[in-house]
Amino acid sequence: MYRTHNCGELRIKDVGKEVILSGWIQKIRNLGSLLFMDIRDYFGITQLMISKKLVKKNFLLGKEFIIRIRGKVVERFSKNNNIPTGEIEISVSHIDLLNSSLPTPFTIEDQTDGNEEIRMIYRYLDMRRNPIKNNLIIRHNLTLEIRNFLSENGFLEIETPVLINHTPEGARSFVVPSRIHIDKFYALAQSPQLFKQLLMIGGIDKYFQIVKCFRDEDSRSDRQIEFTQIDCEMSFVEVHDVLVFFENFIKHIFKKIKKIQLDPFPCISYSNAIKIYGTDSPDIRFGMPFIELNDLVKKKDINFLKTQELVIGIKIKKYHNIYDKIDFFLKKIENDNFFWIKYLCDQTLLSSNQSFLNKKILEIFVKYFKAIPGDFLFFSYGKKRKTREKLGEIRLKIADFFNLKNSKIYQPLWITDIPLLKWDKQFKKYKSVHHPFTSPKEEDIHLLKTNPKKIRSKSYDLIINGIEIGSGSIRIHNKNIQNFIFKHLGFSQKEIESKFGFFIKAFEYGVPPHGGIAFGLDRLVNLMEEDKNIKNFIAFPKNNYGKDVMINAPSFLEKEKLKELHLR
Ligand code: AMO
Repeated sequence: MYRTHNCGELRIKDVGKEVILSGWIQKIRNLGSLLFMDIRDYFGITQLMISKKLVKKNFLLGKEFIIRIRGKVVERFSKNNNIPTGEIEISVSHIDLLNSSLPTPFTIEDQTDGNEEIRMIYRYLDMRRNPIKNNLIIRHNLTLEIRNFLSENGFLEIETPVLINHTPEGARSFVVPSRIHIDKFYALAQSPQLFKQLLMIGGIDKYFQIVKCFRDEDSRSDRQIEFTQIDCEMSFVEVHDVLVFFENFIKHIFKKIKKIQLDPFPCISYSNAIKIYGTDSPDIRFGMPFIELNDLVKKKDINFLKTQELVIGIKIKKYHNIYDKIDFFLKKIENDNFFWIKYLCDQTLLSSNQSFLNKKILEIFVKYFKAIPGDFLFFSYGKKRKTREKLGEIRLKIADFFNLKNSKIYQPLWITDIPLLKWDKQFKKYKSVHHPFTSPKEEDIHLLKTNPKKIRSKSYDLIINGIEIGSGSIRIHNKNIQNFIFKHLGFSQKEIESKFGFFIKAFEYGVPPHGGIAFGLDRLVNLMEEDKNIKNFIAFPKNNYGKDVMINAPSFLEKEKLKELHLR
């Protein structure tokens, strides 16, 4: 028998019991004739008191060695209130060495001395530490809650193939050579998109899958080449039905896991998000919407500004709290087309020294913004797109620099009416913003021939605190529209046949109206735990170069293997 109890279980009520524990040695303290050790397993830590005589000659013990002990639970003389077992210790009568360990390359403590690279190489040691272990537990609990909620609401979990053909979803696919089919390749699924639509055609009313997806793209703090989606699809739904259901889903998850009741999610159209925040994934925790000033500068005849395509500004309230930092911040801004106004607490108005800013103009802006002493105004002007983009970036930098992003607050919102198509300058053709199976809004279809960029789609993104957590759409269920879209994306009839023949064929057999969404599980758990990198919630993540440094993947293949795959 390896254990009667685990290392996090024994309490004062257990004093007097004979127990057996097994685990890793966390710490050894040598007090003359007595050794004090901490023994650790998945469940916690227990202190051991061992007489030196017990530890036989040549019976070396060290940190991370695995031992099994037998002994009696006794009350501790000096108690440790920081751990649940801190009132007791085990007076050890027997000790077995189950396995030894080399000195570890970093300390197995909550606060470790190991850098990320080394911790990734020895990920199995890293996950002995509470921060990583707890993240895996949190991820498990979240996944369980998601499964239960979706199952209880009539969603069927169905696995779809991973080895498929490349489908155009915006990212590059990983390809897998076929040994049997010479010169042919599979692609790893970027998402189960077409399969979940086929499930709806197959009459499965509601589907979900917690599924690995593979995309050959650059890794970032919120992106891995191999990541997990909560992928969902529903039949006979419109945009409203999907948003209502999944708003409840997200609220339920936050309530269960975080004990947080989220407010109703606002819906903002894509074009308004760009106008108000300069981005399609706005962080709305700290306000600071853009105020358009073109009418004002024209009405007040403010030279120079009145001729600009766009003039916008934001107000930072009570900036005097961070008064001493603002000049340092302003020096770091790389944007020529901006100016600012400081409304000091003594009511003086200071501004960046552009020639067109006289006292009268400053007062006009201050009045328009209803600024009060202590507020700070920041303006940007120039071409529409660039001006919005720039001020959007600066708005975020201000929030970061001045600590305005409260990680304890969650402010989700839906972005809707996202454009269907965007112009790809490199390939000189239209590309889907979401994917080619996204339905255009009926009232915009007529623009396909005249102004494709203006067509709004029935797609939606869920943004929480500026991060895209989920994305989906109502799908095309009409064969002619699907064909029409393929053609506008530049696919020839032959390409449509070869890439999507099976899909178009299915459209001949009665496709129900359907739609869905996929959430990034890694991003969701990372956000809920206020962490900065999704890697911390993945048991064996890739590094920022897409490498698994533990198993050293990717790696070269032997010549024979290449030959077998017809690659040499
Ligand atoms: P999309 O490509 O927008 O949509 O992906 C859905 C969600 O998956 C997450 N995500 C990622 N997470 C980590 N690393 C990545 N590389 C990564 N890429 C995406 C994001 C994103 O919102 N089939 C469609 C969904 C649909 O239409 O139903 C799709 O995959 O949180």
